[in-house]
Amino acid sequence: MCVSTAIREKPSNLQVFPLTFLFFATAIVMFMIGMIAAINWVPNLSSAGQVRGPEGWMLAHLFLLGWVSMMAMGANFQLIQVILNTKLFSRALGFVHYLFYTVGLILSLIGFYRGDSDLIAIGGSLIAIGVLLFVFNMAMTMVRKRKWNVFVFGVSASMLNFVMVVSLGVMQGISIGTGWGSSHYDRMFMSHLWLGMAGWMSGLIVTYSFKLLPMFYVSRKKPAKDAYWIIGLLQGGVWLKVGGIWFEVELVEKMALVSVMIAMALMTLFVIRVQGKGKPPGGAVPVAANLIPAVAVLLWIWGGQDLFSLSVPLSLTPAFGFFLICGWFTTTTLSYLSKIVPFLWWAYRFHTKWQKKNVVLLSEMTPDRRMIGELVLFLGGVIVVCVSFLIQRPELAMFGQIVSLCALVAYIAELVRIFRY
Ligand code: HEM
Repeated sequence: MCVSTAIREKPSNLQVFPLTFLFFATAIVMFMIGMIAAINWVPNLSSAGQVRGPEGWMLAHLFLLGWVSMMAMGANFQLIQVILNTKLFSRALGFVHYLFYTVGLILSLIGFYRGDSDLIAIGGSLIAIGVLLFVFNMAMTMVRKRKWNVFVFGVSASMLNFVMVVSLGVMQGISIGTGWGSSHYDRMFMSHLWLGMAGWMSGLIVTYSFKLLPMFYVSRKKPAKDAYWIIGLLQGGVWLKVGGIWFEVELVEKMALVSVMIAMALMTLFVIRVQGKGKPPGGAVPVAANLIPAVAVLLWIWGGQDLFSLSVPLSLTPAFGFFLICGWFTTTTLSYLSKIVPFLWWAYRFHTKWQKKNVVLLSEMTPDRRMIGELVLFLGGVIVVCVSFLIQRPELAMFGQIVSLCALVAYIAELVRIFRY
């Protein structure tokens, strides 16, 4: 049998498996580099009480572009097929996209570290091409299937933000280097932050949580109209905020913040209903589920201070930003991986009937309680770093970072051990 026939005969999730794992493996390498580098850098950032500067830029983009976005794109290739019950438009395009994105990322990370705006702009442009190829691949997959549901809505809105955030990133690089558009620089920067952190990353996590949480909890509560409202309020809030920033209308900016805060409060209600109408899930999924209410509470505290222009003695924004990146985006990704990796590997290893006879159960592939413990420890370390940002204690930042790194190594080892089956 020729290779192409063999590939054609495999189910679509298995065909995309090598692509997904290429993204996953690169993301984990980037993440480990970031976590190790952070032991040195996070204390400096916490004593400075802010993250704007070469070390902060590099760390933020290692985590956001190298780790969570890389992971999200790999997962998207699988999840879109499950959600739409279809095949990815093009696997080959996925590899080309990987090449552009990864080369661009390495160049721009060097640029961030050296504070070299040319390299940021060149690397950023390659990243932007990679992102456009990704969006094209996903959009064609959706268009060919011609199916509309809340996931298509949420993923499309998130991807639009992704394109916008990388475009603004490139413009910022050009602006720093040439002075072009410098009078709009602050607007670009603020829009970049909102579109990236709230529109792209939070939007995607919320959208996929609508699919994954009811599935993992085997819950009778499914996303319905409420999911459209939540995604609509979140994404509408982000775009209103961007409008408010560009046209300098404070009232619009405040309305935008309220919209995002309401979205997260409604998302909390959704999670509570899923948990109430479901069974305890396997893996480390309870950590991701319980993080949603925690993020909502923190958002209300951070947003409340902004809404009522309260001058609190502590600078909440760097701590909240760090919590979003390492506490929410990262921990949720790790938590969902505890179910996604065994599922993908199980399907890959045991996809023929003969092999299925000797099969292990999915639930036997992960030590759930231990993994939850490791993930909670990781999160504990992150919280210590956040506190260090609030009270500007570098030694506390280093301690928290080391705790997180140790817990992370143990957790990744559990994920790698899944491949022994
Ligand atoms: C083509 C890709 C990108 C480029 C070229 C780029 C460029 C930049 C630049 C030049 C800055 C520094 C702004 C300043 O402090 O004045 C920055 C900051 C930032 N960017 Fe990006 N960006 C990209 C993608 C992203 C994405 C996808 C996200 C989020 C998901 C993101 C999140 C952030 C954050 C949180 C900061 C603030 C970091 C800090 O202050 O240390 N960026 N970006």
